[in-house]
Amino acid sequence: MKPKQIVEELDKYIIGQDKAKRTIAVAIRNRTRRKRLPDAIRDEVSPKNIIMIGPTGVGKTEIARRIAKLSNAPFIKVEATKYTEVGYVGRDVESIIRDLMSIAIQQVKTELAEAQSEKVAARVEERLLDLLLPSVSNETGSGNKGDIIQADTSYTDSKQATREKFRTMLKEGKFDEREVEVQVQNRKKIGIEVMGQANMDDLQDAMQSLGSIFGGGKGQARKLTIKRAREIFTEEETDKAVDTDRAIDEAKERVEQMGIVFLDEIDKVAKTGGSSSGGPDVSREGVQRDILPIVEGTSVATKWGVIDTTHILFIASGAFHVSKPSDLIPELQGRFPLRVELDDLTSNDFYRILTEPANAITMQYKELLKTEGVSIIFTDEAIRRLSDIAYEVNNTNDNIGARRLFTIMEKLLEELSFSADELSGQEITITAAYVDERLGEVVQNQDLSKFIL
Ligand SMILES: Nc1ncnc2c1ncn2[C@@H]1O[C@H](COP(=O)(O)OP(=O)(O)OP(=O)(O)O)[C@@H](O)[C@H]1O
Ligand SMILES: [Mg+2]
Repeated sequence: MKPKQIVEELDKYIIGQDKAKRTIAVAIRNRTRRKRLPDAIRDEVSPKNIIMIGPTGVGKTEIARRIAKLSNAPFIKVEATKYTEVGYVGRDVESIIRDLMSIAIQQVKTELAEAQSEKVAARVEERLLDLLLPSVSNETGSGNKGDIIQADTSYTDSKQATREKFRTMLKEGKFDEREVEVQVQNRKKIGIEVMGQANMDDLQDAMQSLGSIFGGGKGQARKLTIKRAREIFTEEETDKAVDTDRAIDEAKERVEQMGIVFLDEIDKVAKTGGSSSGGPDVSREGVQRDILPIVEGTSVATKWGVIDTTHILFIASGAFHVSKPSDLIPELQGRFPLRVELDDLTSNDFYRILTEPANAITMQYKELLKTEGVSIIFTDEAIRRLSDIAYEVNNTNDNIGARRLFTIMEKLLEELSFSADELSGQEITITAAYVDERLGEVVQNQDLSKFIL
């Protein structure tokens, strides 16, 4: 995708913040550009990591989330606050790369599976038919074997015909609710969480393979509907059809060349002002120090092989409300050469956020209430009023950005949502007067709005 197209795509969901969108679009595009370079130069070009700075609720995480969906590249979004320094209880930062790799493998596998989907569907269908039509010889038992052999040809013919008939019915979904007994492999995920182990991932893997030694492979009989059985079979057959080794190779290549890590809440690991606590701060500076080599380029051992992180793109983001980028350790600052600031949202932005995005909030409420048979319509003035109120409350109380709209909308529609089932069939227009009636008093009264909005 060209930078322009990326920005256009982002515009569908995020209002304003053009600078941030552009910078990120360029960074993403540069990955593709780099891929086209001759080998010798390509290795020299390292990605320019980005820090997004902006107050809370202005779209930082939202941009990351949308980019993740857009880009075909392996993408992971993590919160810096979740990690601890190596050697301390908690997840170490290298697990980011392991997770990214695991995401990439999943992605590649899905793609490979899609290419095989017809074959898989055909095999699943056969297996379902086998379930629905256990071979007749089983049913008649060992009684009249001679007869069967004699009547062999016509018998197979009719059996074939029945099978075809069943196939048609199966395709039409007529058996979906029928229950059958299925041998199910034990679920792959074992619900053991050994929190606080440094190498939790490895441990879990070990448990899984243990599980498969002890009867995991055998599976157990369960009664399931055909519909559910189809899902399970599809999973199993897909697993069989996809070449795991190939998927791993491809995933590794993608992670190393195109991988993107989004480090959210980076400001929360910055040191704030005077160090009051004393002693090592495991979840802050230590984490920053651990991140350094990964950002710069290092080798991370995963169970799929060693991953080189040199060309992975890092996008960090944070509100930097209490701390500043300069509170990060200098080494880390230097590794994020691009800074973009996101703007505060204005009343006009709020208006657009309420109406424009493909998933606009007003639209969400409309759809929600529609399920109850109530159709609501927002007048233009009502939406203007709402945006003004959001802006005002953000100014007088804390500025929580676009999230303010959520609290305001909830408050506005509280009454309606509660009694929607009784209003079924009605059309309700939300006017500016209605907004004032529901919210006016709360907004006027500072103390009240502190609690309610
Ligand atoms: N510019 C915007 N356009 C459309 N929606 C927005 C915009 N900014 C924020 N929102 C909406 O507000 C909500 C919060 O935004 P987001 O999660 O991106 O905040 P953030 O900037 O990451 O804040 P924090 O620093 O608290 O993590 C999201 O649901 C998002 O859809
Ligand atoms: Mg966020």
